[in-house]
Amino acid sequence: MQISIIGCGYVGLVTGGCLAAVGHHVTCVDNDAERIRALQAGHIPIYEPHLDHVIAAARAAGRMDYSTDVAVAARSADAIFICVGTPPLENGDADLSSIDAVARIIATEARGTKLVIEKSTVPVRTGEQLRRALEIYGRAGGAKFQVASNPEFLREGSSVHDFLHPDRIVVGVDEPATAERMREIYRPILDRTFTCPVHNGACPSASPPPFVVTTINSSELIKHASNSFLALKISYANVLADLCERLGADVEEVTRAVGMDPRIGPLFLRAGIGFGGFCFPKDIQAFYRLAERAGIDFVLLKEAEQINKQRIDHFLEKARRALWVLKGKQVGLLGLAFKPHTDDIRFAPALEILRRLLAEGASLRAYDPQAMNKTQAQFPTVNYCRDAYDVASGADAVLLLTEWPEFRDLDWVRIRDSMLRPLVLDGRNLLNPAAMRQLGFEYHSIGRPD
Ligand code: UGA
Repeated sequence: MQISIIGCGYVGLVTGGCLAAVGHHVTCVDNDAERIRALQAGHIPIYEPHLDHVIAAARAAGRMDYSTDVAVAARSADAIFICVGTPPLENGDADLSSIDAVARIIATEARGTKLVIEKSTVPVRTGEQLRRALEIYGRAGGAKFQVASNPEFLREGSSVHDFLHPDRIVVGVDEPATAERMREIYRPILDRTFTCPVHNGACPSASPPPFVVTTINSSELIKHASNSFLALKISYANVLADLCERLGADVEEVTRAVGMDPRIGPLFLRAGIGFGGFCFPKDIQAFYRLAERAGIDFVLLKEAEQINKQRIDHFLEKARRALWVLKGKQVGLLGLAFKPHTDDIRFAPALEILRRLLAEGASLRAYDPQAMNKTQAQFPTVNYCRDAYDVASGADAVLLLTEWPEFRDLDWVRIRDSMLRPLVLDGRNLLNPAAMRQLGFEYHSIGRPD
């Protein structure tokens, strides 16, 4: 099938690359000419495991190209995925202006029958507005539009895997024929007839993912409901961590056993410095606003957000307790990205901690395996180091802020010996407290006995 992807951000590139990898012909479109030039030159603007290889292979096979022209892409494609950004407005609502602009171009340019798929995260009832816009602005062209909502559940850092091995594919439609066309798009993934770039074709066996067909409104709601529930789970674990600290219990032991109940599940119960990224913080706000406008006070979401904000205060308080005065202290930061295996720093808890430490007059040295360039552009006064050892050298404290697995395997004896004071504050519970203390560190983590 000929597919156009509108918006070459993270979701657009992963969607485009993966759909090309499973055999479709894909044109990825963005109105940012510089971005398209860079992509054409083979430069992928985000760090995402496997994505460069997937895109290079699709391009070499002649199944993926780029354009800045939405009009051309709208005319040539059978199916158009809208993957443009929906950033938060001041009031927490999602900004849908990019979707509106794209819809108008598709409407005026399209001829024949077009399947228009909303992939961007949007509030419920956006699909209704999208259909209306397509029909109103497309009056002269006479095209027929099928509209679908197809939310993504990709996690940054493992999104290629998640796209090709989804735990469900959700499709919101208003007529059965649209669901069938969506099924055609995902057929290679449902039937597992592609050569998997993540497992080199040797994927672990699994049953096909459920293909869940709903109304468009339900599908849109599923996305916000999923992200918000995961955020609630994290905030719950974080309050448990505070309680454990007060009562002398260990949150890792508690959440491990709690998560063994299949009704609860083990994932997203990791306590730490809170959730960040471009999804949870904005989605939880947008979902709250949506509920509020529908007359529902979704107070759980407000609480989860509030708890998340307090994680930073709580962690800085630990740092202050250990270091006494922050001004003039040399503090090393390990990890800047909002989570490991990505270079994304948007709403990263690490960056908020960095910002506050700078404001308090600490002198900072930092290292992240992927997110240094992006952070440097925002915070030029930090001393960016070549590795974790460089960060620790002469430091009064090292703060571990993103749980990159390689930080677990560092030579911690070497780090201890190079620090001015062997103090580690682990905001992600990555390290083993007993082992760290045995090495002679003063070690503090989250929700575990000091
Ligand atoms: C999230 C969802 O997990 C995806 O399903 C969804 O598709 C995506 O948002 C989206 O809406 O596009 P992502 O933001 O990439 O994915 O990252 P997560 O793995 O969900 O982590 C989000 C934040 O929660 C990170 O800062 C992470 O460190 C934190 N987290 C996660 C915890 O603090 N504890 C946990 O137990 C899990």
